[in-house]
Amino acid sequence: MALTRPLAEAVVVITGASSGTGAATALAVARNGGTVVLAARGEPALDAVADRCRAFGGRTAVLPTDVTDPVAVTQLAESAVAVFGRLDAWVNNAATGAVGLFEEIPIAQLRRVVEVNLLGTAYGMRAALPHLRASGGGVLVNNASGLATIALPYQSIYNAAKQGIRGLADTVRQELRVTGERGIAICTVLPAGTAAPVRRYAAGRRIAPPPPVQPPEVAAQTIVRLLTRPRREAYAGGQRFAWRSVPLATEEVRRRATVGASAMLGLAAGTAAGTIAAVTRRHTRGRRW
Ligand SMILES: NC(=O)c1ccc[n+]([C@@H]2O[C@H](COP(=O)([O-])OP(=O)(O)OC[C@H]3O[C@@H](n4cnc5c(N)ncnc54)[C@H](OP(=O)(O)O)[C@@H]3O)[C@@H](O)[C@H]2O)c1
Repeated sequence: MALTRPLAEAVVVITGASSGTGAATALAVARNGGTVVLAARGEPALDAVADRCRAFGGRTAVLPTDVTDPVAVTQLAESAVAVFGRLDAWVNNAATGAVGLFEEIPIAQLRRVVEVNLLGTAYGMRAALPHLRASGGGVLVNNASGLATIALPYQSIYNAAKQGIRGLADTVRQELRVTGERGIAICTVLPAGTAAPVRRYAAGRRIAPPPPVQPPEVAAQTIVRLLTRPRREAYAGGQRFAWRSVPLATEEVRRRATVGASAMLGLAAGTAAGTIAAVTRRHTRGRRW
């Protein structure tokens, strides 16, 4: 249940590769000698990432793609195979966000977050699976978030979509077992707050992620590790530890909530205590296959 060849010989498609964690993942794969196929909407930014990847000497292709278009995502997979002859791994990383109380977020933004984050991931999985199968196996990594395991106010639809990604991965993984396909690994990465803020609609509100906020390279390293040593889920960063420390985390949330409107996380202490308790109850360990 891993790559059928070393990462240095693998072809890896990465969506949302034009910035943040996606770009860092592309660079990490390229640094390991892997072939990267970079997808997102913004071609100039993808070209800039590709130039940095090529500096490591590996093969790189830029295939601008909007993940909300299932036909385009299918074409992304087919083009990657047409260019490089095979597909060994696919990283669903593209995302957008919407910040605000649930009733403040316009319907169009609710729809947009689900289309990019959840359906975009589903389309990526659908596009990748036949080609991974044709390669004799491979790895699918979905970048969810620590917010796939808990609820935080002001991020309702983002949380919901990320929790949906986790459920999708868990279900399709089971289906592969039911149908006797053991060669394809489906992994979910759960990063802590990352210093590459997901571009998002904001209903007049600003949030700060719970600490620690980490550079995108942390999630990228976890994704690369999943490619070579797949697990069902892996946290990326210190959040797992921080959010288990209930009194500390509660105090931090309370402090943030009273810093003022410009640094608003917007959690009342009571809500925070409930949220953190929920974190503890629902905490799951990274599990091996
Ligand atoms: N930042 C955090 O605190 C944090 C924490 C945990 C998990 N994550 C997850 O990490 C992943 C990467 O986010 P990031 O923090 O690196 O944010 P980011 O820098 O804003 O990256 C988002 C990427 O998604 C692409 N994208 C957005 N809409 C797209 C669409 N319709 N089709 C194709 N690509 C699209 C963007 O490129 P274009 O705009 O050019 O298309 C960009 O490359 C996301 O899944 C996010 O949910 C982030």
